Amino acid sequence: MRADAQAQPNIALVKYWGKRDPVRNLPAVGSLSVTLDALWTRMSVELDTRRREDSLSVNGSTGDSMLPRVSDCLDRLLGAARPKAAIVSESNFPVAAGLASSASAFAALVVAASEAASLSRDRLTLARYAGAASGSAARSLFDGIVELSACDDEIDVRSIAAVDDWPLQVVIAINDEQPKAVGSGVAMLRSAATSPFYASWIERQAGDLDAARRAVAERDFAALAAVAEHSCLKMHSLMWTSRPPVVYWNKATLACMETVRALQQDGYPVFFTIDAGPQVKAVCLPGASEAVSAVLSATDGVRTVVTSGLGAGARILDAA
Ligand code: PMV
Repeated sequence: MRADAQAQPNIALVKYWGKRDPVRNLPAVGSLSVTLDALWTRMSVELDTRRREDSLSVNGSTGDSMLPRVSDCLDRLLGAARPKAAIVSESNFPVAAGLASSASAFAALVVAASEAASLSRDRLTLARYAGAASGSAARSLFDGIVELSACDDEIDVRSIAAVDDWPLQVVIAINDEQPKAVGSGVAMLRSAATSPFYASWIERQAGDLDAARRAVAERDFAALAAVAEHSCLKMHSLMWTSRPPVVYWNKATLACMETVRALQQDGYPVFFTIDAGPQVKAVCLPGASEAVSAVLSATDGVRTVVTSGLGAGARILDAA
């Protein structure tokens, strides 16, 4: 009863920040993202009735700090009476550093575990289980450009453009590979409780989602750039105005934003977005990615640059 699955991280263009129901981990707002192809997490889940405890290995080391969240996710998916599991996770990028490693990890986990248990669950159901563990993980079940709707009691998730419909590129400038000091779950609750801007963030999200959906339907890059940068800066304003404040940026984050502004002034179709970490993701049209990558690589404080196209949703690699 073993299965291997792969999922890629996704990057939100209209951000998710805040929880409607912290216990069920339901998001307070919808979001819109792109699923990547160059970064991946491969997850092997082996269910064994003789095992007494779950075990987790992350990139060759014991993943004890993540194990409770992983075990809870398996309990919800397979029931508390499930066999215990040996879980092995490998990623080709730094984990917990604002590169959406929890998204690819939980998306791959639910796909591998349901296959190992021979459950046939549709993609949306698996996305809901992944989302209960990490809100953004629900989006990594789907390919291309993905919209998550935050309904009252459940989430809905679907791909709104396939990879070839609009082959955007994402150039990721990695500025610091250390795990973040404050997890996004804790930071979101803090923003909801203390940021004076939280209510207006919630109120305006539907308008941002409409604008982004329309930009995708019309392949209007400038319109997508405008709403995505605005959403990113609003989310970081919530973090900065929380008490105590949450600041994920470093000097290189600002330097990369200036680099993107200079590229825009030179006419390149590119915009930035930043998540719960210092890395800057520059989204561009395919013809611009080489120039964007070259200039970001030469920006002060940038350690590595990775370029990715859009990719597939989580899927089974192998089952035994
Ligand atoms: O899925 P979580 O709980 O790690 O939250 C991630 C939130 C952001 O990455 C900052 C924004 C988003 O929409 O992905």
